[in-house]
This record gives sequence, structure tokens and C-alpha cells, in this order.
Amino acid sequence: MPTRTLRVDLKERGYDITIGSGTLAQCPQFLSERCGTSHVVLITDSVVDELYADAVGDLFVDAGLEVELLVIEAGEESKNAETLIDLWQTMLAEGADRGSVVAAVGGGVVGDIAGFVAATFARGVPFFQIPTTLLAQVDSSVGGKVGINLPEAKNIVGAFWQPLGVLIDVDVLSTLPANEFAAGMAEVVKYGVIMDLPFFEYLESHVEAINARDSEALQYVVERCCRLKADVVEEDEREESGRRAILNYGHTFAHAFEAATEYGQLLHGEAVAMGMVCASRLAERIGMIDAKSTERQVKLLEALSLPTQPLEFDSEEIYRLMWHDKKVAEGKLRFVLPNRLGEVILTSDVKSGDVIAVLNGQD
Ligand code: NAD
Ligand code: GLY
Repeated sequence: MPTRTLRVDLKERGYDITIGSGTLAQCPQFLSERCGTSHVVLITDSVVDELYADAVGDLFVDAGLEVELLVIEAGEESKNAETLIDLWQTMLAEGADRGSVVAAVGGGVVGDIAGFVAATFARGVPFFQIPTTLLAQVDSSVGGKVGINLPEAKNIVGAFWQPLGVLIDVDVLSTLPANEFAAGMAEVVKYGVIMDLPFFEYLESHVEAINARDSEALQYVVERCCRLKADVVEEDEREESGRRAILNYGHTFAHAFEAATEYGQLLHGEAVAMGMVCASRLAERIGMIDAKSTERQVKLLEALSLPTQPLEFDSEEIYRLMWHDKKVAEGKLRFVLPNRLGEVILTSDVKSGDVIAVLNGQD
């Protein structure tokens, strides 16, 4: 399958997303075609460093660029203020300035923190995303949300800082652990449910190829998700109109499941898979969709090795935790609910009894 480039058209400045197999080798060219710098700060994590980022650094050196490779510890725990300060100080010590460019090589953790470094160092420097997890390729590298966690709340400090370009090589997904791959697939299924029935049907009929990480299937999946996310971001870049909020399908439940397990037991995508099924059952209870539409989601998610039952936990406590979510607007819980496969609405018109019944697994 040939390399494909999509355009994200934004009010101030658009950018390209290039998707292909073996595209990592094009990194220096991709960057230099889009900005004239000679100083690149590559930010990665300790796992991706050995697998890919060190080699990417060598490509830049071979292309005659000056490169600093900054490596953070792999894992969500690194997405904090201490790591951020450390990155700022190291950049300063290494001579980075307004003429430097930051490139994130890694998953969503690296992309989010490197993007926030780029948004803030020297009041903002250009930034590229080179995502290496499925979640980062289909979601976090597109759309410009960057930031860090505080001990009290995830993703609470950050900025909108769009990249100058996103370069995606699906070959790197071959080394992704199975649970991380499945977690990324939860976000992929999400796009089908919220806005694209034919894509949902494509996923249903290509489970085997996807699970085998077939390169053509992955290129198609990543390209479709990036296009769908870009369409939403083009309409509502700063999450003002409510359009971008549809990307949070399943997330009101998911964030409560993650909080209940203290962010240590479930991968985000696993919680999203459970949350999407809960949201769909909630839509069923209030007469928005039929049971068959939920069952199709359950079957697809299970075929992708994802959990689909609500977390076994005190349902009243989960309901209470939902109120800590960022999506609580004007004192009301907000849900993204499907009214058919391929279309969702944003609603606050939901009774607590229905939410708790869904959490208890009642029909
Ligand atoms: P991650 O970045 O922690 O990566 C998961 C693990 O996979 C890490 O251990 C990493 O080292 C490893 N890894 C990365 N690429 C690999 C590869 N090719 N082969 C083998 N191992 C590899 O997690 P993630 O799921 O990519 O991202 C989660 C983060 O993304 C969260 O912090 C979340 O808040 C954020 N996020 C941001 C947005 C956004 O719009 N900015 C959207 C969704 C999620
Ligand atoms: N991942 C949700 C968003 O980018 O808005």
C-alpha cells in the first residue's frame, strides 16, 4: 500500500499526517520539508529509545542535523511536572532556543509531554509527532492536545499546541505488547460507533487481519481514524461547540473505572471498551438504540481481546466518581450516547437510576 498523506485544515495553520510502512526512515526529510531548523530535540521514552528513537536520531545526524535525544522513563508516571522541568532544563543546557524543533517519538505519554514542552519552552517552538503506539497513531498525535498530569487529576495542565506534521509508520506496531495493541483498538472501534458505520463494518469483517497486525489493514485503519479525528478537530479545534466532545464516547464511564482502580489495573483503552458498552446499554435503556447495536459492539470488542463487562465495583461509588470527570458541565453529568451505529449525541438528560442499573448489569 503506498504512503498516504492527509491534510488537517485549521484556522491558523494546517498540517500533514503521513501514514505508511517504513516511513520512519523519512523522518529527516519530513521535518526539513516543513521547517528550516538545524537543531532537533528528540523526546522519547526508555522503551522506544532502544527500539526506534536512537536509530531515528542517527538518521538526523546522517542528514547533517544537530540532535539531542532526551529520554524519559516509560509509563504514565512520567507525565508530570518534575519530568517537564527536567526536560526544560536539559534543553536549556544543551543550547536549545527558539530556532530548535521538538519531535516526539513514542506513545501518548511522550507525545503529550513533549508537545507541552514545545508549547512552553522559549514561549513555544515547532513540534512534530512521530507516534509509535496504536493509541497515539489513531488519537493522541492528532488534534494538538498536549499536557501533563497532577497527582490530583489527569491531563489537567496543558495547552492546545498543534504539530507541524505527524509521521506515522505502522511497522513499529509489530513490537507493541498485545494489551497495548488491543487498548488502541478500543479507540479505533470508538470512531466507527460515533461517526462511521461503514468503518465499523470494515472492522467487523477484518478482525483476523487486524489481530495479525497485517500492514495493509493497519494502514487503512490508522488512515481512516486520523481522517475522522481530523474532521472533528477541524470543526471544533478547542472543544468549544461540543463537536469534539463526541470523541469521549465511553469515557464518562471509563474515567470512573480508571479512578476506582487507582489508574493501576486497567489500560485506558480497556476502560474505554467497558465504558462504550455501558454507554450503549444506557442508550438502550432510554430507548435510543436497539439491543442488537450494543451486541455488535460487544462482539467486535471481544474479538479484539477487550473487556466488555462493567467493572465489578460498588456501582454507587462508580457513579460518585463520574462526577469528578472534566465532562461534568453546569452541574450535570454529560454522556455521549449512540442513537444508531455511526452517530452519537451529547446529552445530560439521563437519570441516575438508569446509570446505576447499567453499572449493575441490569437489563
Ligand atoms: P504510552 O505512551 O505509555 O505507551 C504505552 C507503552 O508502550 C509504554 O511502555 C511505551 O514505552 C511502549 N511503547 C510505545 N511504542 C512502542 C512500540 N512501538 N513497541 C513497543 N512498545 C512501545 O501509552 P499510550 O497508550 O500510547 O498513551 C497514553 C497517553 O496518551 C495517556 O497519558 C493519555 O492521557 C494520552 N492521550 C492523549 C490524547 C490527546 O489527545 N493528547 C488522547 C488520548 C490519550
Ligand atoms: N482524545 C480526545 C480529544 O482529542 O479531544
